[in-house]
Amino acid sequence: MLKVGVLASGRGTNLQAIIDACEKKIINAEVAIVLSDNEKAFALERARKHGIEAVYVEAKDKRKHEENMHELLVKHDVELVVGAGYMRILSPWFIKKWYGKIINIHPALLPSFKGIDAQRQALEYGVKLTGCTTHFMDEMPDHGPIILQAAVKVRDDDTRESLADRILKVEHQILPRSIDLFEKGRLVIEGRKVKILPGDSWLTKYSYPDVFYSDGY
Ligand code: GRF
Repeated sequence: MLKVGVLASGRGTNLQAIIDACEKKIINAEVAIVLSDNEKAFALERARKHGIEAVYVEAKDKRKHEENMHELLVKHDVELVVGAGYMRILSPWFIKKWYGKIINIHPALLPSFKGIDAQRQALEYGVKLTGCTTHFMDEMPDHGPIILQAAVKVRDDDTRESLADRILKVEHQILPRSIDLFEKGRLVIEGRKVKILPGDSWLTKYSYPDVFYSDGY
């Protein structure tokens, strides 16, 4: 079973989606540890409710913060690190240690709308389609090789919240699926591209009719 370490700064609904997929055996993985830079993150509580070790790692000193996280991840034999709403930019030092074994979810179709509040950026720009992206992390934020993307329609009457909610439901699909693909050894990084080896699909099992999923989902 793949041991996953999750980094989260906030409410942790993506973490919850991963935990649920593990518990329902939809994916062959377990969350070994949850780390947060925010003592009050609800993500920590969610983890503890499921008997998962959850640790607040102080972030006043960035290097120490990352060293402590690295140590904890190694101690728990973590094989894949997942950024699930972790709001800090990881240093090249940390990324180098985990490259190819660290993924992230972003609530937009990268490379559009990087950074914070991507849903508001999309709404204000006036795009008709936005969505979410999972990608391997590299040394630049929201930049590494893309694993999966799913396109979500922007409606005329959308607010930032309604749009964010609609995207979030899809995040809760493509993030566990990305972990699943990693666990099955189906992700091959070739430079900027991620080749997805043939295998099963979640399209018929878990999909919304008005969402467009990239190949591999
Ligand atoms: C998500 O929208 C994720 O894409 C972004 O931060 C948000 C985290 O939400 N990186 P949650 O904490 O998983 O509910």
